Amino acid sequence: MTLPTGEMWEAMRRAEIGWTLYRQDRAVNELEERVAALLGKQAGLFVPTCGMANLLGLMTLGERGTQAVLESNSHIIASEEWGITSIAGLYPRLVSGTRGVMYPVELQEAIMGAPRTPTHQSKTSLVCLENTHNFAGGTVLTASETDSLAQVAHQYGASVYLDGARLWNAAAALKTPAHELLENVDAVGVSLNKGLCAPFGALFCGAYETIAAARLNARRIGAASVHKAGIFAAAALVAFDTMLDRLDLDNQRARRLAKRLADYIEIDMTTVQTNIVFADVAQHNISSQEFAARLETLGVLVYARPGSRVRFVTHRMIGDDEVERAVHAVRKVCEE
Ligand SMILES: Cc1ncc(COP(=O)(O)O)c(C=O)c1O
Repeated sequence: MTLPTGEMWEAMRRAEIGWTLYRQDRAVNELEERVAALLGKQAGLFVPTCGMANLLGLMTLGERGTQAVLESNSHIIASEEWGITSIAGLYPRLVSGTRGVMYPVELQEAIMGAPRTPTHQSKTSLVCLENTHNFAGGTVLTASETDSLAQVAHQYGASVYLDGARLWNAAAALKTPAHELLENVDAVGVSLNKGLCAPFGALFCGAYETIAAARLNARRIGAASVHKAGIFAAAALVAFDTMLDRLDLDNQRARRLAKRLADYIEIDMTTVQTNIVFADVAQHNISSQEFAARLETLGVLVYARPGSRVRFVTHRMIGDDEVERAVHAVRKVCEE
């Protein structure tokens, strides 16, 4: 729901564009280098969506016909329509995490759990992590949690991909530079258009050879020639100049919002770690869809999960007044 700032619109109007596919677009090149450096990786690739970055991660680091291990509510599993299987050719083995975080020993069991006999060596080629974890409530993976999981993956010869659609919110919450959260991660996808407010796009970053292979995979799935991408890259560069330092405000506002909302709807405060607040509205005998529809009539937009969970998100356009309005609207819906 975030919109670009005035400065981003200006940058887009002024953008000089080139042929992106042939690396003639200076803003795209600069963005790829800058974001890769911020994430401590050698190279980057501009892609249209973070879902596309995830798919490239699966296709590039995973090996067709082998197993990938993921947390059971990860975005790749819950929202990406089984591209992991139908496109990347991987068998997904799921591990339930606690607040989105798998335990290393359970990851190890999942890797070892693939049936093995002298003639049947089910291999795990990939482990996927998510930071922040969307459906767990925007929960964070610390650098040491990531390292422990990556260590297990690497010990068994599997690569590690991290879906970092909202990694910048995790970095702000943990007061840790983003690259420290990725030291042992082989490739990462990050969104430009969520809390960063850029209009479009995502980055897939990793080692030189990973990005070279991902460029080929992007061609295979029709995502390599994002024409005139320099317009979007110019806005994204402004996002990196202006947005990173303010993300902690979104995290703090989400916490304030959650504390106030907890008077009316059920919220597990231990999951409120960044800019997402998940609530359960079952106690009001109302579905999440209906709850969201009623809130919408009061000018508050939330995302309804199937069942009774609704998601509130804070961002640049949600200030203290909007938090108050949201609390007011929720109270009204609950009292009706
Ligand atoms: C954790 C996570 N990964 C990936 C995505 C996909 O991002 P995009 O909408 O840019 O494809 C989302 C979107 O909400 C997400 O929450």
